[in-house]
Amino acid sequence: MVALDPGALLRQGLARHQSGDLPGAERLYRQVLALRPDDGNALNLLGQIARARGDLPEALRLIGQAVARNPGAPVFLAAHGAALAEAGQLPEAEAALRAALAARPGDAVSLRNLGQVLSSQGRVGEALAPLRQAVALLPASGPAHLALAHACREAGLREEAAAHAARAAADPAIAEQARFLQAALGAAPPPDRAPAGYVRDLFDQYAPRFDADLTGRLGYRTPAMLAEMLREAGVAADASRAVLDLGCGTGLSGEALRPFARLLEGVDLSPRMLVAARARGIYDALHEADLLDVLPARPGHWGLVAAADVLNYLGDLSAVLPAMAAALTQGGLAAFSLEKGEEAPCALGPDLRYRHHPGHLRALAATAGLKIVAEREAGLRQEKGAPVAGLLWLLRRG
Ligand SMILES: C[S@@+](CC[C@H](N)C(=O)[O-])C[C@H]1O[C@@H](n2cnc3c(N)ncnc32)[C@H](O)[C@@H]1O
Repeated sequence: MVALDPGALLRQGLARHQSGDLPGAERLYRQVLALRPDDGNALNLLGQIARARGDLPEALRLIGQAVARNPGAPVFLAAHGAALAEAGQLPEAEAALRAALAARPGDAVSLRNLGQVLSSQGRVGEALAPLRQAVALLPASGPAHLALAHACREAGLREEAAAHAARAAADPAIAEQARFLQAALGAAPPPDRAPAGYVRDLFDQYAPRFDADLTGRLGYRTPAMLAEMLREAGVAADASRAVLDLGCGTGLSGEALRPFARLLEGVDLSPRMLVAARARGIYDALHEADLLDVLPARPGHWGLVAAADVLNYLGDLSAVLPAMAAALTQGGLAAFSLEKGEEAPCALGPDLRYRHHPGHLRALAATAGLKIVAEREAGLRQEKGAPVAGLLWLLRRG
């Protein structure tokens, strides 16, 4: 009988992993652990597979074990830092990445991750140095240029931001996102809407911190204000309507809409926002899709269609309002917020969101056969210490 060699099993597992055969790789890594329970590589690689599956708690558990059994090993610290960042545990991620970099200062991926973790904590000034180092080490890396471009934009360094966005635009995998950033910097014409890939990545990264940030620091009130507007218009919170929550996110808007709903469905582009929405247990169904693809699916079906803090990711609303109207029952309602703009019809702001002119919206509503029941100006949430000027709308079909 041939003795099993953990080293050979690990190499075979890695080959399968690299070829995309994750179940095959997992089986081999587990065999390694059966023979050598403390094998840090097998634990870390199993953690990477869990991370790819979207099971972050399991990834953190496995990679954490690899770190615990090999304290100070930079590969495991770097992997732990990346997974902690993805889970939104920013101070812990920063500590792990700094420890990894103390042992391996030229690890460009950890430098980029550290820069992004610092930016996410609002420490954009500190983020610039590691991001510039990452770009210097990997001058051909589109993601490194894009991360630096975003940090420069936030730091008000427009020219440097535009230069790195242009470099990132040469990478086909992220070209659309890079061009969107160029447009927000005034260095390219604005597209009709934020690219779906940009929205998905933004909110996937934000999902673990979204509720705490929005309801805490940012004083987010849009869902509550939309619900208030409905009540003031005499709409009873009697659980009688079929309600579609467009861009439902983690379900903060669903919480406010639930009292009106006999049926509540949500749609969102971001799978990780949807995981949080599902955990809330208030939706009858959730769909990972673009709202423009979901609206036409059931014409004349919904008694209320809502979009709280969502339509600012779409510039051109000329397809959205008719799609909402067609999805509503006769007399059905559309309730949504926009960010208020001075320029007609809309403009893409430096924060990568669109601002709409109220006159334009009124004209679109009339064309779509939606009557204005109520229209209000309000601060939607705080941003950089100031309220975001918003518009709340309640429209009725027919
Ligand atoms: C700021 S969050 C608001 C979430 C939720 N409505 C609330 O009030 O908390 C915006 C959400 O809209 C989603 N979103 C943006 N554009 C979308 C689109 N075209 N289709 C579906 N979801 C979209 C994003 O993924 C994100 O989860």
